[in-house]
Amino acid sequence: MASAVSSHPPLSVALVGATGLVGETILEVLAERDFPVGRLLPLASRRSSGRTLRFRGEELAVREAEPAAFEGVDLVFFAATGSLSKELAPEAVTRGAVVIDKSNTWRMDERVPLVIPEINPAALEEHEGIIACPNCTTIGVAMALEPLRRAAGLRRVVVTTLQATSGAGREASEELEAQLAALARNEEPVATVFPSPIAHNVLPLCERFDPDDDGYSTEEMKLLHETRKILGEPDLDVSMTCVRVPVPVGHSASLLVECERALSPEKARRALDAFPGVRVVDDCARNVFPTPRDVAGGDEVLVGRVRRDLTSERLWLWQVVDNLRKGAATNGVQIAETLIERGLL
Ligand SMILES: NC(=O)c1ccc[n+]([C@@H]2O[C@H](COP(=O)([O-])OP(=O)(O)OC[C@H]3O[C@@H](n4cnc5c(N)ncnc54)[C@H](OP(=O)(O)O)[C@@H]3O)[C@@H](O)[C@H]2O)c1
Repeated sequence: MASAVSSHPPLSVALVGATGLVGETILEVLAERDFPVGRLLPLASRRSSGRTLRFRGEELAVREAEPAAFEGVDLVFFAATGSLSKELAPEAVTRGAVVIDKSNTWRMDERVPLVIPEINPAALEEHEGIIACPNCTTIGVAMALEPLRRAAGLRRVVVTTLQATSGAGREASEELEAQLAALARNEEPVATVFPSPIAHNVLPLCERFDPDDDGYSTEEMKLLHETRKILGEPDLDVSMTCVRVPVPVGHSASLLVECERALSPEKARRALDAFPGVRVVDDCARNVFPTPRDVAGGDEVLVGRVRRDLTSERLWLWQVVDNLRKGAATNGVQIAETLIERGLL
């Protein structure tokens, strides 16, 4: 039987940031999942005008993102800059489109649902035109926490992330490759996107420090606030350190989780494995654990190393997610599918 999504009349879809890493992944995911796209409009900056992109075997001309481009469009994915989303998302909504935004701009706005469809799809019912997609790091962490929250409640989480370079966009990805090539030639790596060389290195900073945030990075503050909003736990204690590592794709996180009620590692594994979109990969005896290479190109959140803390009832776990797919593009497309299933688009 045809699903609500596959039998939906074709939609006119615009993609702002179509030439970027997330944008190109959205194109892949829309085609893979057979999302009902009638017309696709790839938009980017003036620099990309005249370029073409392939979608479902067709060459499409990239146009500059400007308000008039949204006339007659049903759905817009924004995967560009935060300032562009701030300026253009309301223009798209005024013209009758629903917006799914990948940037940080609208996530903490009370009027805007911040959604991971496996966790809080009902939040979409309240949408007023703009829906925010969480940060790529938050998506993996929240997907690992929600099954434990449902099984035993959550009291406190300590998280350290190890984040891929592609999480900072195409220029950042290219910087890692250029630095690796320079090191192979015995030359000094040049850092322009990251504050220090990332090749053969680890940087305890993702994004930037904000003087108002008391030594925390902007990425760390996003992880705190977005996790609370998505899980509906406004007082959840979250302590976080976000680290950039020289991995092309796939964010990892080490979590120490304190639940409200006792939860054994065995029960935690069962709860995690039963949750849609999460798979447990955990067999110490055989050196089996999830790595970024295992998730790259896929949509599952993998969890392993589930074990009891040596000095408390808390649980340790290790989680990995493809930051460009479930961490960005796939989650955005799933939001669109859920809107259709709920008759909200
Ligand atoms: N990378 C990730 O893992 C990830 C995960 C979650 C969320 N996000 C968010 O998703 C968004 C896109 O990230 P990305 O990694 O795809 O970045 P990216 O690879 O650097 O791509 C940026 C895109 O934005 C477009 N753009 C930039 N300035 C523009 C302007 N003034 N007008 C129109 N288009 C403009 C670029 O177009 P041109 O090619 O014409 O310059 C390009 O298509 C960001 O908000 C990011 O925070 C990223």
